[in-house]
Amino acid sequence: MERIKEAVEKAKSQRVGLQPPLHVAAVRTAAKPASEVVQESLPGTDADVHYRQTPVVELDPAHLESQRIVAHQKSHPVSWAFDLLRTQVLQKMDENGWRTLAVTSPTMESGKTVVAINLAIGIAQQTNRTSLLVDFDLRRPRVASSLGLNGRISLNEVLTGNARVEQAMVNPGIPRFVVLPTLQSMPNSAELLGSSRVAALMGELREHYSDRIVVVDLPPVLAVDDVLAILPRIDCVLMVVGNGTSTRKEIDEAMSRLSKFQLVGVVLNKDDAPSRNAYY
Ligand SMILES: Nc1ncnc2c1ncn2[C@@H]1O[C@H](COP(=O)(O)OP(=O)(O)OP(=O)(O)O)[C@@H](O)[C@H]1O
Ligand SMILES: [Mg+2]
Repeated sequence: MERIKEAVEKAKSQRVGLQPPLHVAAVRTAAKPASEVVQESLPGTDADVHYRQTPVVELDPAHLESQRIVAHQKSHPVSWAFDLLRTQVLQKMDENGWRTLAVTSPTMESGKTVVAINLAIGIAQQTNRTSLLVDFDLRRPRVASSLGLNGRISLNEVLTGNARVEQAMVNPGIPRFVVLPTLQSMPNSAELLGSSRVAALMGELREHYSDRIVVVDLPPVLAVDDVLAILPRIDCVLMVVGNGTSTRKEIDEAMSRLSKFQLVGVVLNKDDAPSRNAYY
């Protein structure tokens, strides 16, 4: 814990614009009624057109909670942390005109996928935004299983040229939230992520809807070169550091590899003592 704080402080002093780490507690679970997950649309907006075209798949609230997906439940004791993260990230992105955000970490199992999904849902909770979550962790794709999605067409078919991107998109029954899931791991993922096909796809996803924020779930920076292959196509990056999952050396090394990209901030995940004013 101490070494993470020190490394983040060090990075802060070295980097312009790096926000203090956001502490995300261990997410507890409690059953919620299915009625909390409802579909609605914004009449007359880009989002309305989008949602009419994208198939809606209702999610299982109990499964979401078991996977620590809680940002859509305003009464959940941890959803405030994702609201705060959402607000900080959007402020920074708006200031810089950034619309695509990568989520990565130094090493495995830091909570990238949990943070990416909750953040994308948190962004969609703002009525003037839509969010698109893309699973570009082509080695260990987990967005679909975390959400409980199991369609037939996914990013796998889009990347092999066998489907159009709209065919792979799913609206998981949460307003203004769309997912581009990956169902199977893919060989040669670094080559794919650095390819002109992925560059064109990222451009299309970024430009198609002006109110959309694209959140991209990635593998860890230190495990594979996939992250460095795709980051030139993404406006900015959020680093998730899991409490106890990376050494200080690994955090330093990851920061150094990301130094030529725009770092929005660092999330300290799995913190055991998050603070929140009791009245708010
Ligand atoms: N804030 C948290 N508190 C407690 N456990 C968490 C928290 N965030 C994530 N986890 C758990 O840690 C494990 C890893 O989470 P997740 O899959 O999001 O990590 P990841 O960084 O995406 O992993 P990978 O490197 O395999 O892609 C999961 O079991 C998840 O439920
Ligand atoms: Mg993951």
